[in-house]
Amino acid sequence: MVARIVLLGPPGAGKGTHAKFLNKKYGIAHVSTGDILRANIAEGTPLGQKAKAYVESGQLVPDDLIIEMVRARLSEKDTQNGYILDGFPRTVEQAKALETMLEKIKSKINLVINFAADDGIVVERLCGRRVCPNCNANYHIKNIPPKKAGICDDCSSSLIQRKDDHEATILDRLKVYHERTKPLIEFYQSRGLVRTVNGNATIDVLQAELAKHIDSV
Ligand code: AP5
Repeated sequence: MVARIVLLGPPGAGKGTHAKFLNKKYGIAHVSTGDILRANIAEGTPLGQKAKAYVESGQLVPDDLIIEMVRARLSEKDTQNGYILDGFPRTVEQAKALETMLEKIKSKINLVINFAADDGIVVERLCGRRVCPNCNANYHIKNIPPKKAGICDDCSSSLIQRKDDHEATILDRLKVYHERTKPLIEFYQSRGLVRTVNGNATIDVLQAELAKHIDSV
């Protein structure tokens, strides 16, 4: 079956890390709304200009902008063989819009992975995260350090810290998660789609667990 997967979980739970792993292992398209927004901000597109202040302060970008952006992304050819949605939907309104969008083409989400991770752990992970602005590779100064400090293993670019990865903004993002995104667990549970994994576990343990869930789709 074609896997159409949603990754749910607080910021720093590992959604991006594991979406990249699943993309490599299964060749399923990785659709990260955060990555698309950051690319638009870096290029200074009209969408990027509208989204910049929200993204950098850890607030949600308005639903209408996001839904249109995802609609365009899901019409691209590489998503025809399935996709992993990382960071979308993030509100019940977005989830309903996605359902309507998919119903029109007789399609639906068939798996939702919920990464349950403690707030204290995700704060530590995000404070230590470093990312490659060129190829989006993702590191952690202690847990997953690059071979050479500050340099991307894959493309040798200098790593950066995201503007929203400072403690005060991380706490704001967590608040937004608990208020606006966590209700989606119940939304998708009522559709029988949710598999919860322990987001506090090590990457190896999680990769094995995720592979089992994907193989069962
Ligand atoms: P987005 O980029 O989606 O950020 P996020 O949801 O806050 O998620 P993160 O990327 O911070 O965390 P992650 O779960 O991917 O963790 P990662 O794998 O990197 O969104 C950014 C902003 O864009 C939002 O705040 C909003 O403004 C806007 N936006 C995006 N989508 C939107 C939408 N749908 N609607 C409205 N606005 C939207 O891991 C974190 C760190 O921990 C890394 O360093 C990693 O190496 C390490 N790590 C991961 N797993 C483990 C592990 N198991 N053990 C040890 N270390 C680990």
